[in-house]
Amino acid sequence: MKIANCLNNLPPYLFAQIDAKRNALREQGIDVISLGIGDPDMPTPEHIVNAMAEAIKRPENHQYPDYAGSLAYRQAVAAWMQKRFGVNVDASEETLALIGSKEGIAHIHMAFVNPGDYVLAPSIGYPVYSGGATLMHANTWFMPMNASNNWLADFSDVPQDVLSKSKIMFLGYPNNPTGAIASPKYFDAAISFCSEHDILLVHDNAYSEISYDGYVAPSILERPGAKDVAIEMFSLSKSYNMTGWRIGFAVGNATAIKALGTVKNNLDSGQFTAIQDAAIVALGGNQDCIAQMNAVYARRRDLVLDALAAIGISCEPPKATIYVWARVPDGYTSAEFAEKVLTQAHVVVTPGNGYGPDGEGYIRISLTTPDERLLEAVMRIKELL
Ligand code: MLT
Repeated sequence: MKIANCLNNLPPYLFAQIDAKRNALREQGIDVISLGIGDPDMPTPEHIVNAMAEAIKRPENHQYPDYAGSLAYRQAVAAWMQKRFGVNVDASEETLALIGSKEGIAHIHMAFVNPGDYVLAPSIGYPVYSGGATLMHANTWFMPMNASNNWLADFSDVPQDVLSKSKIMFLGYPNNPTGAIASPKYFDAAISFCSEHDILLVHDNAYSEISYDGYVAPSILERPGAKDVAIEMFSLSKSYNMTGWRIGFAVGNATAIKALGTVKNNLDSGQFTAIQDAAIVALGGNQDCIAQMNAVYARRRDLVLDALAAIGISCEPPKATIYVWARVPDGYTSAEFAEKVLTQAHVVVTPGNGYGPDGEGYIRISLTTPDERLLEAVMRIKELL
């Protein structure tokens, strides 16, 4: 068999690789604590589960879903965008149901990128931004991102020959994995850059609801001119503890939404309508669950920061996301430190280099583990060091 070249060019998917190492240790009977993938440990709120239990009984939900998502779901998305951000989107033309935002991020490449083209991705970012380009036989230009630019991907220096072939720019704030946030001024600069160079701006806003210390994350679509060049991808995974449900949405520029919808019409048949019905309840129902969840994550964040400080690793308290981004101790690469922590302390952390070139020298710690396990994990790391 002759597998496509692009598959050979893909690095192993970061989280699949980490899962394999974790499982291998668990199979030996070792108690491994995973602070790797951001997969909320808290259950989906009861009112959403109950809505699903009702929705699954409705026979009309047992047939094929609408390709773009049910109109009721897209209307709920539009209403949420208005209520949460004051952003108007047309439910029919400017929204699209996704089978999780990862699906939309992967497939948007098929709608915009030709072989040999470029996508602009942060030099530390969700692996699917560049993976999607590789699958399209296209290239990724990594926009530098580091502590000195406050983890704001720098698009000021893209060479002209790359720029002329660039079709998509990916950004994501609140940022996975660094926890960084972006100012309106930064978003405005990105919008005007993409507008000047005719590039689709894809803003990954999967962490919009998880924030601390009074910070409230915006939508890029709040900014003037954004809808001319941008779409935004949202996920219910982290906001409502629904990672396993696979539900999200894209909103924004109608041409881009239509193009992504065309790709999806040809590839999938939409998300189970019962899941969309439950998601309507998530978006339109009582939002207290979010504040409760954020209080738990804030407590865990502080617990991790205190423990890291005690072993001489200081890091900025993130104002958003479920991640702590920390420098590895001197003398280690990201991978060496993650490997040491895994094999000797039996704790999974994500090596920063897995997110791209500028992630070297860092690890990411996910806060999606119960407090007592999280505490045990940081104690194990402390003892190891
Ligand atoms: C992460 O850990 O970065 C995310 O949970 C992975 C994902 O959303 O696919």
